[in-house]
Amino acid sequence: MHRSVDVVARDRAGSANPWWREAVFYQIYVRSFADGNGDGIGDLAGIRARLPYLSLLGVDALWLTPFYSSPMADHGYDVADPRAVDGVFGDLDAFDALLADAHALGLKLLVDLVPNHTSDEHVWFQEALAAGPGSPARARYHFRPGRGADGSEPPNNWPSVFGGPAWQRIDDGEWYLHLFAPQQPDLNWTNPDVAADLERTICFWLDRGTDGFRIDVAHGLAKPPGLPDMDIPADTAILPEIPGDLRFDQDGVHDLHRMIRRVVDRYPGRMAVGEVWVRDDERLARYIRPDELHQVFNFHLLEAAWKAEELIAAIVRSHDVGTSVGLTPTWVLSNHDTIREVTRYGDGDTGRRRARAAIVLELALPGATYIYNGAELGLPEVRLPDDALQDPTWERSGHRERGRDGARVPMPWSGVQPPYDFTTGAATWLPMPDDWAELTVERELDDAGSMLSLYRQALALRRDRPEMTGPGIAWYGAPDGCLAFRRDGGLTCALNATDAPVPLPPGTVVLASAPLAGDGMLPGDAAAWLV
Ligand code: GLC
Repeated sequence: MHRSVDVVARDRAGSANPWWREAVFYQIYVRSFADGNGDGIGDLAGIRARLPYLSLLGVDALWLTPFYSSPMADHGYDVADPRAVDGVFGDLDAFDALLADAHALGLKLLVDLVPNHTSDEHVWFQEALAAGPGSPARARYHFRPGRGADGSEPPNNWPSVFGGPAWQRIDDGEWYLHLFAPQQPDLNWTNPDVAADLERTICFWLDRGTDGFRIDVAHGLAKPPGLPDMDIPADTAILPEIPGDLRFDQDGVHDLHRMIRRVVDRYPGRMAVGEVWVRDDERLARYIRPDELHQVFNFHLLEAAWKAEELIAAIVRSHDVGTSVGLTPTWVLSNHDTIREVTRYGDGDTGRRRARAAIVLELALPGATYIYNGAELGLPEVRLPDDALQDPTWERSGHRERGRDGARVPMPWSGVQPPYDFTTGAATWLPMPDDWAELTVERELDDAGSMLSLYRQALALRRDRPEMTGPGIAWYGAPDGCLAFRRDGGLTCALNATDAPVPLPPGTVVLASAPLAGDGMLPGDAAAWLV
């Protein structure tokens, strides 16, 4: 049951003002950030060498996507050993060195936890295959006999998020559940070994000094008893969440988050943020009740179209999710699973102008912000050739869905042609476009009008301006197609989602995503901060 906001707010105030509440997190897709050993794949040493850049950018914390031992069927989200570093990314010494340097620069560091599934090469799954039906080893996963006279039909009708059925048959005739790729068998969270092992993993990384976790598929984990069939609308087979979806957001998941919270709370100052694709706000808020996760990603803003009314609705909903449990919200415009915002907002100049306005909007909002690597350069989604695609979605969907590789192309650092100093090697794990010379870190650092300069300016103002404070926002009246709000501390943010200039609200402009269109006028597809 929900406790009242007042009670919760008091509880939370007891823990002072934790660092993560208003922090700006930078998501590093490890394969694609920087390569330290010349093999064309990003790694921990590469990140370490680029830490000064992240400090210059002005973020507070980093989140690293999985770098654990993995056969890479889903690029590391198929974990064979959650307490070992994959050789492709380095080793534990490389991790410790990265963490120490990050801390020395004042940067916190989160790592990814993947509790919903393991790799099919995890020792537990290998044991389960060998041990046979009915064995304790199989009880750590969801093994079932098939349906039909000869058991050749899957045990239920659930689809996999990556396309095709969520069940795979093995040689002895049993089937196992995989909500994602067949190489990612789902763990059975009613088995006590599973929770005990996650506790070990949490402590392993916290003992090393890690500041917390991003929890993968945090709305998965618990499954409904009996694994019944679900209703599946014909055209939405691979959406992560559909109405009446029995694969996700089961009530039993909350006990698991309480367990995670109890373990994390043994380490003061550490935190966990959940990846929760749940569109019902009341259900989403349940994940951040005082004894559950510290934060939950909120994807409303990411899913909003470039229309003032949609942006306002996304902000109001996200804000309410947080305040309903006495917390400030989180904000995110993109990540390694979604279309990059420049492309989503219309691509080309229009997409870039809107993405500039969107970050000015996002960084004005109270709460924590998550920035996906490359967004600060204004990287667009890349249309890769078919034979370069690696995301399991491409094959599993029968080539209907291209998948997420277009948002995972390596970062361009300097130079005028691929690999733009991402690697000292010749090739990169995904090909880099020929026309990114203007989008390199080196080029953008030198250009006061670049996306990177806008990010740096906005992050510095966010840190330094006293008007940028307080948990509340008050909405102003704004012209059609526009929005304006004021933070408690006094900062006003105005955004014009139309293509014609509109008058700015009163105040002095301290930041604008585009040159003002004459005295006191905010151009189309632009946003500004005023004090
Ligand atoms: C999450 C990750 C995604 C991964 C999936 C399965 O949604 O963000 O990249 O493929 O979980 O682990």
